[in-house]
Amino acid sequence: MGEALKGLKRTHMCGILREEHIGSKITVMGWVQRKRNLGGLVFVDLRDRTGILQVVFGEEIDKNAFEKADLVKPEYCVAISGEIVKRQSPNKNLPTGMVELKGQEIKILSESETPPIYIKENLDAAENIRLKYRYLDLRRPDMQEIFKIRHRTGKVVRDFLDEEGFYEMETPILTKSTPEGARDYLVPSRNYPGMFYAFPQSPQIFKQLLMVSGFDKYFQIAKCFRDEDLRANRQPEFTQIDLEMSFVEEDDIMELNERLIKRVFKEVLDVDVKLPIKRMPYKEAMEKYGSDKPELRFGMEFNDLSDIVKNCEFGVFKNAIAEGGSVRAIKVENCASMGRKKIDKLGEFVKTYKAKGLAWIANREEGIKSPIAKFLSEEELNGILDRVNAKVGDLILIIADAKNNVVFQALGALRLEVAKQLEILKDNKEFNFVWVTEFPLLSYNEEEERYQAEHHPFTMPMDEDISYLDSDPSKVRAKAYDLVLNGEELGGGSIRIHDTKLQQKIFEVLGFTQEKAWERFGFLLQAFKFGPPPHGGLAFGFDRLIMFLAGTENIKDVITFPKNQNAFCPLAEAPNVVDGKQLDELGIGVNIKEK
Ligand code: AMO
Ligand code: AMP
Repeated sequence: MGEALKGLKRTHMCGILREEHIGSKITVMGWVQRKRNLGGLVFVDLRDRTGILQVVFGEEIDKNAFEKADLVKPEYCVAISGEIVKRQSPNKNLPTGMVELKGQEIKILSESETPPIYIKENLDAAENIRLKYRYLDLRRPDMQEIFKIRHRTGKVVRDFLDEEGFYEMETPILTKSTPEGARDYLVPSRNYPGMFYAFPQSPQIFKQLLMVSGFDKYFQIAKCFRDEDLRANRQPEFTQIDLEMSFVEEDDIMELNERLIKRVFKEVLDVDVKLPIKRMPYKEAMEKYGSDKPELRFGMEFNDLSDIVKNCEFGVFKNAIAEGGSVRAIKVENCASMGRKKIDKLGEFVKTYKAKGLAWIANREEGIKSPIAKFLSEEELNGILDRVNAKVGDLILIIADAKNNVVFQALGALRLEVAKQLEILKDNKEFNFVWVTEFPLLSYNEEEERYQAEHHPFTMPMDEDISYLDSDPSKVRAKAYDLVLNGEELGGGSIRIHDTKLQQKIFEVLGFTQEKAWERFGFLLQAFKFGPPPHGGLAFGFDRLIMFLAGTENIKDVITFPKNQNAFCPLAEAPNVVDGKQLDELGIGVNIKEK
């Protein structure tokens, strides 16, 4: 049975106690990390969110308290009063290790069963157990630290944007399908049986409407919902730092957000981000790194070999180029002696990215070793070595394909994989930011045989490219930008179309009929009839930002109660079935085919 506080007040948090507190009579409250009985003395390590404090109970100090302290077990919730004294044998690994609390009174506020997971740092327990008992998992000091960082970051963001004149505003959660391109989460309506709200994939349309309303600068730390395949950095329910500004162009938005990022990294991590953040057009990012989110903490850039090998005797290369593709290579320094098995494995790896094979040239001390050397003239071979600037000891990895996108994706993934295997980034603490700009406005969906918006359909084309909308839509670049950090997309945004005619045109190119466009986005198009200002904005993935600040590669670590890889919450057991009566009210019948 738990004791009541009965007026007892906590005076101090555990983790802050130092030598300067020696002699203070204090009361602390928290959880028992562990208890040891050493005969005449009982030691209790008491934990709260600030840290751990050693408490010592002795028959000599207070017999009652001593006997009661001996009853506690790990994770009992207790209140302890006593005096801070100098610790006999200091513990240098503990911030409070110079002192201890001489326990004169203990209240057992509540008892605990043996917890199913250890409450300790760097726990290595099965994820589903951690998520099922998430409230215990969150007791762990490293998890508590992450949510302190998350809180701090939100506060810095709010303060900064407030100083910059932004209003924090909310937008609806029960709304209509938004245009970010993932699947929607739907909510059936009771008032309108057979009809559904959609959870927002982002506040995109509403923040644009707020610009039409004249709010000028809006932000929101906004919940977003996307029913998409989950990955290490993707959750179905996540948070954006979402903002929008009126009367601005790309530079204004990028400049403001750079300063926001600088402030966050300074205040949360005491890291100085150098401004301005470099910029790289999409085309360059693809051609050098095969990715629109290039990892720039190491080189290993692509080299285009197409001009050198276009007439060579290796059919794979020659044909790829003849069919409009290319042959590109990366140089892996000092790896010419890489074993056959390892290279074959890399060959298997690139096949998962649709490459048909991996060619290689090892520039060894004893000469060139390569399965394709026999197809290459001396001139071609030397041309390749020259192009990649190969030294003795270097290994060249080459991919050819008739589709440039396959070359980019496969070689881009290979570049990252090789770096991982070589541990090039091990212990790297750098934060390498880059704005990727000049994205294509549209991409061609080969399956559906139509163009689709690369970002969303409200993105403004670059002025100099508008004329291509009719002749060659794939050539049109967008006034869009992504902020990339260490090869991850941290955020993205764009200048929006505020001209109804241009918007109409884009819908046409996207294959939306007039009716369909109005059916989906009519309320925005309608609003644009009433003097919309030029505007644009951006959204950061708040969770992803916290991942970097907290140094974790798993997005679940930075979300209080995340879903598992199957979008299931093992704690609440959601999703779950509901009462037949609830379904009846909604006019819904469930019809599941046996799996
Ligand atoms: P976008 O779709 O690029 O843009 O999303 C912005 C940022 O949100 C983060 N993010 C996610 N984080 C976790 N889990 C997910 N499933 C997930 N999906 C996206 C990413 C991404 O960079 N309305 C536009 C922004 C704008 O144009 O202003 C938008 O939502 O970090
Ligand atoms: P093959 O003649 O098919 O045995 O191929 C010779 C070498 O070329 C092998 O190392 C293959 O992995 C490699 N190769 C095959 N297709 C490609 C490709 N599309 N790009 C690069 N190398 C390839």
